[in-house]
This record gives sequence, C-alpha cells and structure tokens, in this order.
Amino acid sequence: MAREPIVQGATGGGDDDRLRDAALRPRFLREVIGQKAVVQRLGIVLNACKKLKEPLSHILFDGPPGLGKTTFATVLPNELGTTIQMTSGPALSKPADLLPFLTNATDGSILFIDEIHRMPRVVEEFIYPAMEDFRVDIVLGEGINARTISMPLKHFTLIGATTRSGMLSGPMRDRFKMHEHLDFYTVPELAEIVTVNARKLQTMVTPDAALEIARRSRGTPRVANARLWWARSFATSEANGEVTLALVQQALAMSEVDSEGLDKQDCRYLETLVKVFAGGPTGVEALAATMNLPADTLSDEIEPYLLREQFIVRSPRGRQATARGYLHVGVKPPGQSGQGVLFE
Ligand SMILES: Nc1ncnc2c1ncn2[C@@H]1O[C@H](COP(=O)(O)OP(=O)(O)OP(=O)(O)O)[C@@H](O)[C@H]1O
Ligand SMILES: [Mg+2]
Repeated sequence: MAREPIVQGATGGGDDDRLRDAALRPRFLREVIGQKAVVQRLGIVLNACKKLKEPLSHILFDGPPGLGKTTFATVLPNELGTTIQMTSGPALSKPADLLPFLTNATDGSILFIDEIHRMPRVVEEFIYPAMEDFRVDIVLGEGINARTISMPLKHFTLIGATTRSGMLSGPMRDRFKMHEHLDFYTVPELAEIVTVNARKLQTMVTPDAALEIARRSRGTPRVANARLWWARSFATSEANGEVTLALVQQALAMSEVDSEGLDKQDCRYLETLVKVFAGGPTGVEALAATMNLPADTLSDEIEPYLLREQFIVRSPRGRQATARGYLHVGVKPPGQSGQGVLFE
C-alpha cells in the first residue's frame, strides 16, 4: 500500500481517522466512486496534458470535509507518474515557509495546499507570480540596501483544497484554471464505497448492512469509513466478525448515531436551534456560543449536511429549523400562522 506523506497542520479527524483514510483511499481515478462529472473532467485534462506533454493546470477543490478533496489531489500524481508535496494553509505563516516547496517543485510535479483559505494574505500574494509566471520575487537585505530578485521556478501544478471557497480572495480563485466542487454522495455510491472498503479490510459485509451504513453516513465517505470500521469492530467482538444488518443497527445505536445517520453533535445542534432559539432565525455565533463550539465547526462540519437534507435553512436573518428539523427532535413545528412559509 502506498504511504501517504504527512500533511502538517491539516484538520479533519484525529490520527486514527487519518491512518484509516490513508489505507482506504483510492489511488487511481478509475477507483474513485461517485463524483462522476468531476472524474470525467479530470480524465479529460489528464489525457490532454499527457498528449500535449504539458503540466496539469492549477486546480482548486472545494466542498465539505471528508468528501474526497485530498483523495483527488493524491490520485492526480499517481495518474501522471509524478511526485506530490503536501502542506496546508495554517502551516504557511510567512513566504519563507512556502519557498522550499516552490524551489523543490520539479516540472509537472504537484504541490498540494490543504485548507488554502487559511493561508495568510502575504503568502497568498507571494504565490501569485509563482502560479502565473513560475517565478517568485525575493527581497534580499533590509532598508536602503534591500533589493528584489526574481527567481525562476519549474512548471509545477498547484492543487488547492478548501472547505470554504467563499473565504478565498478573488485573485487567488481566478488563478486556478479549474475549480471543482465536491458534493455529498448518494446512498448507492456510499454503499459501493463501503463494499469496496470492506473488501480492503478483509471483512464480510452483507449487502443490506452496507446499505444501512451508507444510509446513515451523512452523505460522506469519511463517515462511511468510520461507521464501517466501528461496525467491523463490533461484529468481531460481539459475533463472528461478519457485518450483518442487525449488527450494524446495534453498533450504530451504541455509538449514538440516530436513524437518519445524524450523530450526537448534529442532534445537539438541532435541539439547541429548536429548543433554545425557538427554531430561529438565529446567527451562527449565538448557536456556537450556546453549544460551546467554534462557529467554524458549525458552518463547515455540521451545517452543510443539515442544509442539504433540509433539516435547517439559511436566510439573511440566520439559521432556521424546518418542519423536518422540528420533527427530528420531537417538537411539533409551528403552524402556518407562526413562522409561515418555511413549514408545509
Ligand atoms: N470518491 C471516493 N471514492 C472512494 N472513497 C472515497 C472517495 N472520496 C473519499 N473517499 C474516502 O473518504 C476518505 C476521506 O476523503 P478525503 O480525505 O479525500 O476527504 P477531504 O475532502 O480531503 O476531507 P477534509 O476536508 O477533511 O480534508 C478517503 O480516505 C477515502 O477512503
Ligand atoms: Mg483533506
């Protein structure tokens, strides 16, 4: 199995999650399940750059955590037979932190910057000429003796990943020729991922058990991997190791994943919104303060799936629970005369 380079300062899960993700990550485009349109477009640019013998253009991936941004970034060098250097926005506090990556880059190699929206503005400005003209401007000396030299670079490819493309500056976004958005996966796609990964883990999973894990994984492959891992441990400890529907149901109940696949944090969010804030509308900061969590965790990790499944809606006045959101926490939604339009 290919070893993954360590990504400094990257977020999204603990060490266990990261090891498991690395072991289960697809290595070639043909192994990637779902995201059909993205896979097709990447297939075309890969083909074109092989035929033209040109480096790949800079690509930005965005979407909620665990949907495959790092997976796509690591698949590309395998397809091209080139190398990848990995770093992340928070690890690059000044231009000097980025310089070694730029000077080590070879023609056609890939530089992957995770959480690129968290790169400070000075580093962002330093990277513009590197992306556009493959050179960097370095200031030598200080005061009146300072002079700028322009250093040429090899034609590398920058791959950026972000959970917040809205936080990237316009000029930064424009310098990526391709911008790919990853969306949540369907249940059949996740069931296929569970089945393939069960095989990699040498575990028997019945088709109905795979579907149940898929249905309760928040549309997210990383979550599906974690649920599969847990169900496998449960089946091994409590039965003969084969993951069946009944064992998945017991395992998920034990880890407090509800019938819709929402975890404890999702449910706490809905309960706070419905019971403390009377269903909203309320600002994310107020919700975050009550839940004692950073607002970023709410807007990056919890809300995207609740929005997509219409447990909540987002309006200029803030977050608001839908009828489905109310019912999920066992509260009767207000009638038409109450908050009106949102409720059927
Ligand atoms: N399309 C896919 N097909 C199969 N497995 C996938 C796919 N996308 C993601 N996975 C699985 O989910 C795991 C998590 O994906 P990945 O690390 O690429 O997410 P990410 O978008 O980079 O998340 P983050 O924003 O937290 O960095 C992978 O290790 C892989 O096992
Ligand atoms: Mg990632």
